[in-house]
Amino acid sequence: MGSITFNHVFKQYKGESRPAVNDFHLSIEEGEFLVLVGPSGCGKSTTLRMLAGLEEISDGELYIDEKFMNYVSPKDRDIAMVFQNYALYPNLTVHENIALGLKLRKTPKYDIELRVNRVAKILEISHLLDRKPSQLSGGQKQRVALGRAIAREPQVFLMDEPLSNLDAKLRAQTRAEIIKLQSDLKRTMVYVTHDQVEAMTMGTRIVVMKDGVIQQVAPPRQLYDEPANLFVAGFIGSPQMNFVEGNVTLEEGRYYFSNKRMKLLLPRAYDAQFEKMNRAVRNVVLGVRPEHVLLKPSEESDDENGFVASVVQMTEVTGADSYVYVAVGESKLIARTDPGISYSKDDIPAIGFNMKKLHFFDENTGVSLAGGGEAQ
Ligand SMILES: Nc1ncnc2c1ncn2[C@@H]1O[C@H](COP(=O)(O)OP(=O)(O)OP(=O)(O)O)[C@@H](O)[C@H]1O
Ligand SMILES: [Mg+2]
Repeated sequence: MGSITFNHVFKQYKGESRPAVNDFHLSIEEGEFLVLVGPSGCGKSTTLRMLAGLEEISDGELYIDEKFMNYVSPKDRDIAMVFQNYALYPNLTVHENIALGLKLRKTPKYDIELRVNRVAKILEISHLLDRKPSQLSGGQKQRVALGRAIAREPQVFLMDEPLSNLDAKLRAQTRAEIIKLQSDLKRTMVYVTHDQVEAMTMGTRIVVMKDGVIQQVAPPRQLYDEPANLFVAGFIGSPQMNFVEGNVTLEEGRYYFSNKRMKLLLPRAYDAQFEKMNRAVRNVVLGVRPEHVLLKPSEESDDENGFVASVVQMTEVTGADSYVYVAVGESKLIARTDPGISYSKDDIPAIGFNMKKLHFFDENTGVSLAGGGEAQ
């Protein structure tokens, strides 16, 4: 129970020239924890609201458990939704807030008592049941909102940025609670966030959206290691992947990446992917994550990693890691380094890359050409 299918779903708001959700096509398995992530305005909430029945679908079909849902009213969808602004009833106690949905569904009284108490125990709010929302902290309100959704025991949970009003510590704690809850209850979860760290830690699969269009659907690790395009590569990961413009050329049977400042002999692992590449592709963007950028205190010759000179612009120490910002000509790169070696502004270390961990994208379309899983 709780499987969901979007079949080429569109949402076009009245008077808008572009669809807010453009050809959303995806099946979600029952019990899955799916996260929708993307920048503000990319269509996450609209997608969720169409799933909940709060927003009309302009085109395409929505199925829940293989039943056609487009015209089914929200209350008949067996879905519970948690919003960013908890939307608790101020005049009702915590107990009454949690029980309300059950009452409306004519759940027997003893069953309501049982469920409210169980949920309160799970969320550690048993001692708050008689309070009004105004007497709760932000995190407690959030847990009441979660409790209200959970008490209904729906087949599908929808959550739209439910943690965004919480401070960092409470956020991490509630995040862990939601993950545990979902795995205990084994209900389908569709969770919206614009925070890529939240997406990566919570989802079993992540949908990255931009301008209403799905960019990639993949488990977290795969999204990180094999981004399908420049947008995903830049969006997932912090600090973000470094990008360097240049060309890929074939010389005497070997592939090189080069620009004014560097010429890298690429390992043969990429050959098969470059061979499939459209010959018309001239300009590429090389992508390399900060942890795969290598710095050496002075310029030494090392062909294998193609070291070139760079200039340090600043260093950021976060505790466990140091991030060194360097310039190579016009390219700016960030290297994650061992905090044991310190670099200061205007130092000129040599910079190289872990050559097995490079990504190459078509500069025009942004589509991934080579790199990621296949090349490693
Ligand atoms: N009722 C509406 N009428 C017209 N346009 C709307 C309406 N609601 C949303 N939009 C537009 O649709 C697009 C998608 O909005 P949506 O709320 O789904 O984005 P989002 O990904 O949830 O963003 P955020 O992270 O800021 O919450 C935006 O361009 C938004 O301006
Ligand atoms: Mg939103």
